[in-house]
Amino acid sequence: SWTPDNIIDDQVAAIRERVGDKEVICGLSGGVDSAVAAALVHKAVGDQLTCVFVDHGLLRAGEAEQVEQDYVEATGVKLRVVDAADRFLSALDGVIDPEQKRKIIGREFIRVFEQAAREVAAEGDVEFLVQGTLYPDVVESGGGTGTANIKSHHNVGGLPDDLKFSLVEPLRTLFKDEVRTLGTALGLPDPMVWRHPFPGPGLAIRIIGAVSRDRLDILRAADQIAREELTAAGFDRDVWQFPVVLLADVRSVGVQGDGRTYGHPVVLRPVSSEDAMTADWSRLPYEVIARISTRITNEVPEVNRVVLDVTSKPPGTIEWE
Ligand code: XMP
Repeated sequence: SWTPDNIIDDQVAAIRERVGDKEVICGLSGGVDSAVAAALVHKAVGDQLTCVFVDHGLLRAGEAEQVEQDYVEATGVKLRVVDAADRFLSALDGVIDPEQKRKIIGREFIRVFEQAAREVAAEGDVEFLVQGTLYPDVVESGGGTGTANIKSHHNVGGLPDDLKFSLVEPLRTLFKDEVRTLGTALGLPDPMVWRHPFPGPGLAIRIIGAVSRDRLDILRAADQIAREELTAAGFDRDVWQFPVVLLADVRSVGVQGDGRTYGHPVVLRPVSSEDAMTADWSRLPYEVIARISTRITNEVPEVNRVVLDVTSKPPGTIEWE
């Protein structure tokens, strides 16, 4: 019968058998799939696993710490953190086009991960790469497995020939809800287990306009408030995703205290969905929207207007870029 403990035991045995005494590498994104996959592999082979976390500087408030501190504490994995924010931000400097942003982030991600993988490989006999592929991903891609390409959450191409790994994909038979159950059974922190889907390019595609450190800080502050209030109101699990979008090149006039302001709008984009293929805007209670709006305009000085996106998908997409 399906219990988390059965699945964990089976997977741990299978991973041990497959990996033997070889070394394993895994890229962590902050998302639940890679976190659970790595935790399973760690349970099976301990410090033969090295996790790599590329911090591209485009994550939300607290997410890098969640990986670097909470996850490591909960699992005991050996983690190599690459702080690559400067590199990603320079590469993105002045770029406005959404697809261009994605291309740049995908390219830089591969370069940085590749470099880290080379360093890990130089220290040991690395033969395997862990990926958090789920059953729906397997079905969607036609079912094949094979040698390495890091594609999952960054939609990017393969590793060079001298960095070929065999894939370990312990979640290949599982659905998302089952992965979450496993994550909890493995002792992962709740915010990680229940994290909403978040795009690989991160906040870069939620800033409409060029990405900069200042703009990221503004968006992070607004996004954190929206997430806090959603959680406090108990709606985390009813909402599929809740992008907060900064219209960085738009300004509007406002008034605060005695003063005129000329600040930026943010857009709230809470959506309900089963699979992200279609979505509807979430009918959150007005009180929740009101609290988010009041807090953002009070606490984020650069933002003087909060608007709600009431477009379904189609015709809108979930993200604004
Ligand atoms: P859209 O905006 O197309 O998004 O309705 C559908 C789902 O995909 C996510 N998304 C991405 N995920 N890299 C990703 O890993 C991307 O470039 C990307 N763009 C969109 C989006 O968050 C939603 O879950």
